[in-house]
Amino acid sequence: MQPSDKALVPFVSVDNMMRLIHHVGIEQMITELAAEIEADFKRWELFDKTPRVAAHSPHGVIELMPTSDGEAYGFKYVNGHPKNTTEGLQTVTAFGLLADVYTGYPTLLTEMTMLTALRTAATSALVGKYLAPKGATTMAMIGNGAQSEFQCLAFKALCGIDTVRLYDLDPRATGKCATNLAGKGLTVVSCKTAEEAIEGAQIITTCTADKKYATILTDNMVGPGVHINAIGGDCPGKTELHRDILLRSDIFVEYPEQTRIEGEIQALEPDHPVTEMWQVITGKAQGRRDAQQITLFDSVGFAIEDFSALRYIKKAIEGTAFFEPLDMLADPDDPRDLFGMLMRAK
Ligand SMILES: NC(=O)c1ccc[n+]([C@@H]2O[C@H](COP(=O)([O-])OP(=O)(O)OC[C@H]3O[C@@H](n4cnc5c(N)ncnc54)[C@H](O)[C@@H]3O)[C@@H](O)[C@H]2O)c1
Repeated sequence: MQPSDKALVPFVSVDNMMRLIHHVGIEQMITELAAEIEADFKRWELFDKTPRVAAHSPHGVIELMPTSDGEAYGFKYVNGHPKNTTEGLQTVTAFGLLADVYTGYPTLLTEMTMLTALRTAATSALVGKYLAPKGATTMAMIGNGAQSEFQCLAFKALCGIDTVRLYDLDPRATGKCATNLAGKGLTVVSCKTAEEAIEGAQIITTCTADKKYATILTDNMVGPGVHINAIGGDCPGKTELHRDILLRSDIFVEYPEQTRIEGEIQALEPDHPVTEMWQVITGKAQGRRDAQQITLFDSVGFAIEDFSALRYIKKAIEGTAFFEPLDMLADPDDPRDLFGMLMRAK
């Protein structure tokens, strides 16, 4: 039996996502995603917001990230399993869905492993645009795993970074990252220690994966005026920065209710002051105040960023061959005759 049009949902496979990214261009797509995220941060107040629903285990975490703007509803399924890479699997994989609030019918199903890397990089660099010191040219990239190249290219595209200084506990990861970034318009310096990586860097990105309270940066490593983009501390019991750095920084977050559970600030008092990025982006709160200030983006990843990415993909695939129609919704001739539909299929 041929499915009807109503049964079909556009599905973007990993293969099609990669084709789309190359069609648009990686840096161009990150830039367009950042614009989409910025636009949604500007209408932050109208979104349904909830900390993501996390299922923790000794192995990692599985999370559901829902939100809605009243017209569309979206969610992402994402995992975080730092031990996975030792078993030939990725730390983070994801897929997501967009639906029409009026009918409740899904309108897009897509891979989001690639898309998460792009949207995380886009969010980081968007925030960097508001918080990084003026004229920043060099970024330290600590943690050279799956996210790292995307982060470097995003800061190049949106913040004018021309040099990245790489460090990872595992030199093979640094080698991989340096090779992947060759010929991409960045000066790439591979470093042997985190201390070496931060030399001369105005922006420090920490993007490591370990299921513990790690200390990727100690207090004495962070000089005045630096912007820290802390990506990897995104779960209870999983952080990257020494607490003293937090006490010297002005801290910017996505959604405090989620970040206080998952971010670096889980190490602080529950009422420690933080600034929400949507308020900086809308001009309601100040971003960087002066050249001496240490700004810290305590990033954990919030559902609205994924919603922006899902809507971007829905628009981007219209009229293209970058998706397949998936027979996903049962569509009986009589909406109440689901059983009859099943019997006729025999
Ligand atoms: N904030 C967000 O929105 C967001 C989005 C996606 C991923 N993440 C997080 O970002 C982190 C990185 O993700 P990924 O997919 O690149 O993971 P990955 O496992 O591919 O890479 C992590 C890298 O960190 C390195 N590392 C671990 N401990 C280190 C240390 N002490 N010093 C230096 N390097 C160290 C590992 O060797 C590895 O190469 C994860 O913790 C993930 O949960 C956050």
